[in-house]
Amino acid sequence: MDLTDQPTALLPGDVRMPLLGFGTWQATGTEGYEAVLAALDTGYRHLDTATMYGNEREVGRAVQESGLRREDIFITTKLPPDRVGRERETLEASLEALGVDQVDLWLIHWPPSAAESIPMWREVLAARDENLTRTVGVSNYSTAQIDELIQSTEENPAVNQIRWGPMLYDRQRHTELRDRGVVLEGYSPFKTTDLSDPVLTRIAGAHNVSPAQVVLRWHIDHEIVVIPKSVTPERISANFDVFHFSLNAEEMRDIDALAST
Ligand SMILES: NC(=O)c1ccc[n+]([C@@H]2O[C@H](COP(=O)([O-])OP(=O)(O)OC[C@H]3O[C@@H](n4cnc5c(N)ncnc54)[C@H](OP(=O)(O)O)[C@@H]3O)[C@@H](O)[C@H]2O)c1
Repeated sequence: MDLTDQPTALLPGDVRMPLLGFGTWQATGTEGYEAVLAALDTGYRHLDTATMYGNEREVGRAVQESGLRREDIFITTKLPPDRVGRERETLEASLEALGVDQVDLWLIHWPPSAAESIPMWREVLAARDENLTRTVGVSNYSTAQIDELIQSTEENPAVNQIRWGPMLYDRQRHTELRDRGVVLEGYSPFKTTDLSDPVLTRIAGAHNVSPAQVVLRWHIDHEIVVIPKSVTPERISANFDVFHFSLNAEEMRDIDALAST
């Protein structure tokens, strides 16, 4: 499946971010390299890594050995907040480890201190203006923290990557982000979910898929980016096999309601 065949979120600059990506936290060393290569072989075209994950070299090696064209893979990496004042050298180290000239999305991994927030955001914007990254965003930011960035620089983050899943569903937060032109990217879809929940198992049964696949499809049907991680070959492929079914409005409502039960 080509990047252009997959459902995507549109980011500034006409950048297309596949709604289904591959998480790589705790996927390190040979195991990480093999997982990313398997993901790319399966059809994932969006990889999520971070300076803090210590696996950018393995991710980069898998990208190179996949035989895919660089422009057909969307790569995110993240800046640790303690690198204030060293933003550019941190991104250059990421690019070197990944073996690429540019990433597709660079996120501030967590909010730095209030005093450092705007200076760090300005450095991130500068890296984008120098084409070291195509788009920029944040992770683990509240709406108020995003508003501060927008008020100070008139530049909104393209993405906010936050902990998300059916049990954490928050319609208002999704709306607040959308109103500010910020794409919601969810992380830890399985760790935040009880996969034996009766609502999920019922809906999974109706579509002849697993509860994990329902969770991923629920994100996609909400147009929320989701980045499941796995180092297990069967799970890597099952987690990508979510494009042959979709959830109806009633199923979506039932899953949304899990957050309030
Ligand atoms: N920005 C942030 O602060 C932040 C924080 C956390 C995560 N993230 C990103 O989000 C990604 C995903 O989050 P996550 O790694 O925390 O958690 P996750 O994707 O919710 O869960 C990963 C765990 O679920 C297991 N798993 C995978 N597929 C499964 C399936 N089909 N059925 C049952 N279990 C399954 C994995 O096991 P195996 O690997 O053993 O198969 C692993 O133990 C991370 O890898 C990272 O890229 C970002």
